[in-house]
Amino acid sequence: MYPERVFSGMRPTGSLHLGHYHGVLKNWTVLQSKYPCFFCVVDWHALTTHYETPGVIEKNVWEVFIDWLAAGIDPNQATLFIQSKVPEHSELALLIGMSTPLSWLERVPTYKEQMEKLKERDLSTYGFLGYPVLMAADILLYRAIHVPVGEDQVPHLEMTRQIARRFNRLYSSDSIVEEKSYQVAKKLGKKHARLYFALRHSYQEQGDGEALAQAHSILLESNSLSIRDREFLFSYLEVARKRILVEPKALLTSASRMPGLDGQKMSKSYGNTIGLREAKSSIVQKIRTMQTDPARVQLKDPGDPEKCKVWQLHQVYCNESTREWVKVGCKTAGIGCLDCKQPVIDGILREQQPMLERAQKYMDDPSLLRDIVDDGCEKARKSAKEVMQDVRDAMGLKYS
Ligand code: TYM
Repeated sequence: MYPERVFSGMRPTGSLHLGHYHGVLKNWTVLQSKYPCFFCVVDWHALTTHYETPGVIEKNVWEVFIDWLAAGIDPNQATLFIQSKVPEHSELALLIGMSTPLSWLERVPTYKEQMEKLKERDLSTYGFLGYPVLMAADILLYRAIHVPVGEDQVPHLEMTRQIARRFNRLYSSDSIVEEKSYQVAKKLGKKHARLYFALRHSYQEQGDGEALAQAHSILLESNSLSIRDREFLFSYLEVARKRILVEPKALLTSASRMPGLDGQKMSKSYGNTIGLREAKSSIVQKIRTMQTDPARVQLKDPGDPEKCKVWQLHQVYCNESTREWVKVGCKTAGIGCLDCKQPVIDGILREQQPMLERAQKYMDDPSLLRDIVDDGCEKARKSAKEVMQDVRDAMGLKYS
């Protein structure tokens, strides 16, 4: 058994916003005291879309680290590092890429979506198509079991699991047992032997329970197997090989799709964000001008919180009694929209204050930050080297 590790990453695309915080970072601050955590700024991923303008990446990397520390990530508990400082990420991406079918990559929802969204950039590149392979390598390199991310990353996690399963099936098997399985399965007859291995494959790669049941019936119905052969083939269906790579799971928060000022998912590309360290006056202005239920033209018009974008933020920032006050006040026109917005403004500013204080320390003395990241990169490299050695050995790249 491997230790239960956490891995997550963020692209250095600029300062972080409240979607990053409520969707992911807040969860990281909880996880860091429970598990060994690896948090990585994925600069190579930023290059998949910004390969023509790499100049902005470095500045953004440091901004992201400051935002993490501001949000309460503790460098004494978690390992904070930069992806490109651990070259094993690219080695593993190359190796798992060998057995990743193109069709898996072309099916990823974000692939087509991003191509559409970022029309001004030419994203018909090898690097961009391979984005999920690199992401899978990030996670698998640390044998992370828990990956705290936002909802949009779930398909990438599913592919990471598929890649790990395929890798383990291809490279983790014990060759003597495998050879024996071919010899014994031959006794089922060619057709049934082929079916047996196909069903075993579906079960082991996709966890397909029906395939397992069907394989069981083939074995039970066969007259040509001895008791020992049957038992062997039964257990071979389940043989948990020494797993070289570990299948991770996404960890989502209740705000795994935190809405922005316009009700869509908060995202820089929609221009609907509030920055983690944004100026107070700008935050107040943004919330005060947010659109509310269009039915509330005048103060005397009753409204419906379900039709109001601010209501979504109340879910994140306000307690039950404030929400009740909003609901009643809005429906009876007892409060105005600005009254309703005030607890959200207060909530955001209250949450922000300690972040500004924590960030200041690193802005005043950037060497503190460099030391934390240097130390994190070294720790990550050490850990990555161990897993990479297992991967190389399993793939027959030993040369010793
Ligand atoms: P990125 O950089 O787009 O976003 C970083 C993380 O923030 C989450 N997020 C949100 N969650 C909830 N509501 C929002 N409005 C919101 N906006 C952003 C994202 O879901 C993400 O979890 N592919 C990744 C980076 C990556 C990675 C990894 C993540 C590369 N390798 C390995 C985890 C593990 C990405 O583009 O995230």
